[in-house]
Formats: sequence, structure tokens, C-alpha cells
Amino acid sequence: MPTVIPPVDPLGLPAAAALLKALSVLTFTPHLLAMNVTLGGLLMALVYGRRPEGDPGALLAERLRGLLPAGMAMTITLGVAPLLFLQALYGQAFYTSSVLMAWTWLFIIPALCVAYLGLYLAYLRPSWVGDRSHALAWLSAALMLVVAAVFANNMTLMLQPGLWAPLYAASAYGAALNLGDPMLPARYLHTILAAPAVAGLVCALMGRRFRTLDAAWSAWARRTGSRWFHVAGGLLMLSGVWHLLALPVRVGRQFMGASPHDTGVLAAGVVLGVAALVVAKRATGVAALLTVLGVGCMVLVRHRVREYMLFPHVNAAGIPVHADSGWATAFAVALGVGIVTVGWLVHVALQCRGSREGVMPG
Ligand code: HEM
Repeated sequence: MPTVIPPVDPLGLPAAAALLKALSVLTFTPHLLAMNVTLGGLLMALVYGRRPEGDPGALLAERLRGLLPAGMAMTITLGVAPLLFLQALYGQAFYTSSVLMAWTWLFIIPALCVAYLGLYLAYLRPSWVGDRSHALAWLSAALMLVVAAVFANNMTLMLQPGLWAPLYAASAYGAALNLGDPMLPARYLHTILAAPAVAGLVCALMGRRFRTLDAAWSAWARRTGSRWFHVAGGLLMLSGVWHLLALPVRVGRQFMGASPHDTGVLAAGVVLGVAALVVAKRATGVAALLTVLGVGCMVLVRHRVREYMLFPHVNAAGIPVHADSGWATAFAVALGVGIVTVGWLVHVALQCRGSREGVMPG
């Protein structure tokens, strides 16, 4: 069956493809980090949440709980901007795969509503649900894992133009998935393992925050957080190797020397990740910074994989640009105001928590 590619949107791109690609990478990184903190934090809260009162694990779960509904809201909100860039740049591929797996894709909306409601009830209104709060939190975690799997399905199906026509011929009712793709399990595992690793780092940072107020708990949180970071981080590295080997040979080759630039970005991501693991125990703040930069490099690698996979069928650089400086200015202003507002909200929330818990900010 021939490869069928939908035509380019006649509206074209509102700005140069290179600028939109840079914004896509820049805005997707915070979404992924927020998802990691929320999902990983939820897993830690579930693992330690049933410990007896007075146990340091129970206190960690208590301290994480208040963050999770807000983390979920941040994950969802921070997904909007990359979604816009994804649609503008790769609409031919993204809409096609979304239509092919329409039912599963639409399932994300009720799943997110129930996952958020579960977290809200379990952690912000526990008196309403009594001893069902633990089960509700597990349900939210399971739904988050399912949502991530649906995203991974769509993000890999959109990279396979050769599959679209046969899948549509097999069923025109939006029931397709991409389960036969060897890239899918590797990519999913690699994305999900980042969650416990990043949450471990957050736990260690919390320990650092409480070092003067509660030295014993601080030492426990730093030890436990580092352990999660090291174990999940090590597995993350192994799954990364699997992910690289699961790529089609012509694409994987680019990251193993054929393209010095892409190989360099992947190497930088790995070096930053390893450096974060090495310094995590002694310098948690530095490890957090290295991790953020490493995730940024990996998001860039992921973007380059998409470009290689879609070429020559879908090529954002070939879409006509109908630049509109009015809209571009409105977008830049809205983005600036949004960033400042979210930064201020996070600052206020941390200050409130700090004063409630008796911790000095910083
Ligand atoms: C609990 C909720 C969510 C989780 C756990 C989650 C998780 C993920 C994961 C794991 C990926 C990477 C998939 C891959 O490439 O294999 C991803 C990508 C993405 N997510 Fe989310 N997500 C959530 C909610 C959302 C929401 C509500 C939106 C939109 C408003 C969103 C927008 C995106 C976009 C646009 C991408 C792809 C970005 C790109 O390829 O440039 N996410 N998400």
C-alpha cells in the first residue's frame, strides 16, 4: 500500500519553523519535568503513605501530598504550549495518528478528570472519603500511567507514515494503536523511569530544606531521595540504551556518530545525567540543575528523532510561513505574563508552606 500523507495546512506557519521548533523543545521540557515530579512524588507518597505515625516515611508522604494536586494542574497546564507547536509543525502526522487512535486518544480527557479528582479528594479533602483515600490515590497513579502510555502511543504512531494507510484500511473507526512498534515499550519505560528518579531528587531537596529544623528527618530524606535517584536513574540509563537500539537503524545511526551534532547532544545529555548521579549525595542543588539540563538535551534528542523519522514525508521546514507580527507579539506577551504569573504562584505557594512548616525560605 502506498504511503499517504495529508496535505499541508493552507494557513501555513505563523512564524519561522526553526523558531517554533525551538519553542516546542523549550516548552515541552517543563511539561515533562512537572509530570515527573507529580507522578514520581505520587509513587513515593503511596509507597511511604501507610507507614505508622512518627515514621520518617509517613512524614515524607504527608509533605508530598499537599504538592501533588498542584503538580497535576501544572503538568496539564504546561502541556498546552507544546501541544500548540506540535499541531502547527507536525499537524499532518499528529492529526492523522490522533484520528487513527481516536477513541483511545479521547479517553485522555475523562482519565485526566478522574485522576485529578482522585488526587484532590485523597489529599486535599481526605475527610470526605475516609479510608478510601489510599485507593483513590492508587487510581490516580494508574490513570496517570495510562495517560502517559496513550501519549507514547500517539507520539510513536505519528512517526510511522507507512503504517497510516494500512491501519485506516483495517479499521476506519479510530480503534488503531501502535502496539507492534518495538520503539514503544522502550520509549515508554524510558519516559516513565524518569519520574521516580526526579521525585527522589525532590525528596533529597526537601531534606536539605529541613536540615536545621528537623535534622534527623532531613538526613533520612536526603538518604532515601538519593537512593531513589540512583536506582531509578541507573535503570533510566539502561532503558536509554534499549531505546537507542530500538530506533530504526537509519535513525539510531545519526546518534551514534553519523551526525556529529546529534551525537553531541545525546552525549551531553548522558554526561549531564551521569554527573548528576555522581554529585547527588554531596550537592543536591547542583544535581537538580544538571538533571534539568540533561532532560533538556534528551527532549532535543527526542525532537531530532521525530525529524528523522518523518523525513521526507513530513517536513516542517517546507511549510510556507505566513508570519503575522501582531499575533507573534500577542503570543510573546502572553507567554511572558504566563511565565511571571506561574513563577509568582510557585513562590507564594512555597512561602506559605515554608511559614506553615516553620522553614525559612531558601
Ligand atoms: C497526567 C497527565 C499527563 C501525563 C502523565 C503526560 C505524560 C506525557 C508523556 C510521557 C509524554 C511523552 C510521550 C512520548 O513522547 O513518548 C507526553 C508528551 C506530551 N504531552 Fe503530556 N502528559 C499529561 C498530560 C498532558 C496534557 C493535559 C497535555 C495537553 C494539554 C499534554 C501535552 C503533551 C504534548 C503536546 C506532548 C508531546 C510534545 C511533543 O512531542 O512535542 N500532556 N506527555
